[in-house]
Amino acid sequence: AQADTPAAGAFDFPELAAGVDATHHVAEGYAAEILLRWGDPLFPDSPPFDPQNQSAAAQARQFGYNNDFVGFIPLGEGRGLLVVNHEYTNVELMFPGLGAINRRSGPVALSPAQVAVEMAAHGGSVVEIVREGGRWRPILGSPYTRRITAETPMTLTGPAAGHPRLQTAEDPSGRQVRGMINNCSGGVTPWGTWLSGEENIHYYFLGQLPEGHAEARNAALYGMGTPLYGWGREHPRFDLARTPHEPNRFGWVVEIDPHDPLSVPKKRTALGRMKHEGAAGLVNRDGRYVVYLGDDERFEHVYRFVSEGRVDPADRAANRDLLDTGTLSVARFDADGTGCWLPLVHGEGGLDAAAGFASQADVLIETRRAARRVGATRMDRPEDIEANPATNRVYVMLTGNPGRKPEETDPANPRARNLFGHIIEIAPEGGDHAQARFRWEVLVRCGLPESGATFSAATTPDGYFGMPDNCAVDARGRLWISTDGNSRRSTGRADGLWAIETEGPRRGTSRHFFRVPVGAELCGPCFTPDDETLFVAVQHPGESDDPAAPSTYETPATRWPDFAEGRPPRPAVVALTRKGGGRIG
Ligand code: FEO
Ligand code: CA
Ligand code: CA
Ligand code: CA
Repeated sequence: AQADTPAAGAFDFPELAAGVDATHHVAEGYAAEILLRWGDPLFPDSPPFDPQNQSAAAQARQFGYNNDFVGFIPLGEGRGLLVVNHEYTNVELMFPGLGAINRRSGPVALSPAQVAVEMAAHGGSVVEIVREGGRWRPILGSPYTRRITAETPMTLTGPAAGHPRLQTAEDPSGRQVRGMINNCSGGVTPWGTWLSGEENIHYYFLGQLPEGHAEARNAALYGMGTPLYGWGREHPRFDLARTPHEPNRFGWVVEIDPHDPLSVPKKRTALGRMKHEGAAGLVNRDGRYVVYLGDDERFEHVYRFVSEGRVDPADRAANRDLLDTGTLSVARFDADGTGCWLPLVHGEGGLDAAAGFASQADVLIETRRAARRVGATRMDRPEDIEANPATNRVYVMLTGNPGRKPEETDPANPRARNLFGHIIEIAPEGGDHAQARFRWEVLVRCGLPESGATFSAATTPDGYFGMPDNCAVDARGRLWISTDGNSRRSTGRADGLWAIETEGPRRGTSRHFFRVPVGAELCGPCFTPDDETLFVAVQHPGESDDPAAPSTYETPATRWPDFAEGRPPRPAVVALTRKGGGRIG
């Protein structure tokens, strides 16, 4: 009988049926309201969304494309700042007249004006929102409103800042950079800043390095030479031949102060350079700030940063540069269920001049090479990582790795041709996130039952999912997982949000809560502190997942969420609430 009795805090919402169609669906008894769409005006003087007549000037005053990370920073009862990453653009769905495009076949020829729109649609948004009569809405005249784009001036800080490898003709200081790109997930700090991870930076750099260039090894390790964006045709900084150091100025965690719209975002080099998924953290018991970091690519690694200084909860300004000094480590998962954090510190563990690391700056600029050198475990695409402050356990989303051969499996990556991913639970020694050692186990292997998924027996067919990507822990310490890669073809269901039990006899039980329209993935998930609202980001609705069935501006797979003839689909943030009020789930 015990197995049928939900543990304290277990989920009790009516489960949503898995499936896929043109629109979103939420569990019965819950409301889903569109809060912010691509192109929505953010300032009182913003032009209205006009997809047939886009301009960079208009886009820079409107909500950007492909919302990914969502953070909520409370400003008072029913009021707060929503901070949102705009990861990338889908030109085939943004601009009329381009026809069928296979994004994977390289950069599309766009006009300079269209490139400028793309650059303005990247980055992030800060939007003040208020809840009135149970509904959230953006405040158009808020003094906090901000758009950050691929052109916003930023500084590089920390151990690599100013290093010759970060210097360019445009910036001989190696400390000034324009813009952030491909910002995927992130985090919000207790001192009210927003951490935003630059992920697939290699897509933005055209061409080849000059023959025999010193950055060749670095460029290869980060996948340069496979561009999807043609910005480098007009912008020399995105052309490897003309600006070989520019890629070293991207791939960082950016810290942004949304309380001050004039503040200069800072790329924190101490947190390493990689294809950053997120940057969720917590205050360790000794007051130091700990950030868990995933490098989202096949066979890449799981990282942890521990600040040297302690968080001052009473003085925001005292925490301003906390993330510039500390220790970055990388995880090794051992077969006995233990593991350790290997520090990436110059002069230790073979990270020395003989190995091509002349300083800590070199270790950070080539974080991936340093991780391999110290013997880190090569994982199945580490995405979001979140700690549960109630239990001090840490959840690592591994979204999959179809390229893993049978002879390459290991206990932490146990599936050959891992199509559907898995989730690892880490328990730091003594609940101390600064300790070198931890225990770990696979919480669940994802996918459908016939794929060897290991959800609990209490999981219904609707509760199965593949490709975990983002996650959130609610105020009651419960884990929610959003996905990227479920489709008609892969699992017969749309991406969406699932709640998964981590405690008690129902551990490993998954339940479906929300699903996205066709072609989209689900990002965000972000709870308000009272658990009464869950913000989710519907990214790339209508994107084709089948090369044989391209989706275009004129004939998209869906026109979500406007469903107006002639209107393209629009990525959007959705606010989920319980009808009649109350906590979610
Ligand atoms: Fe941008 Fe790792 O997903
Ligand atoms: Ca992601
Ligand atoms: Ca998250
Ligand atoms: Ca993903």
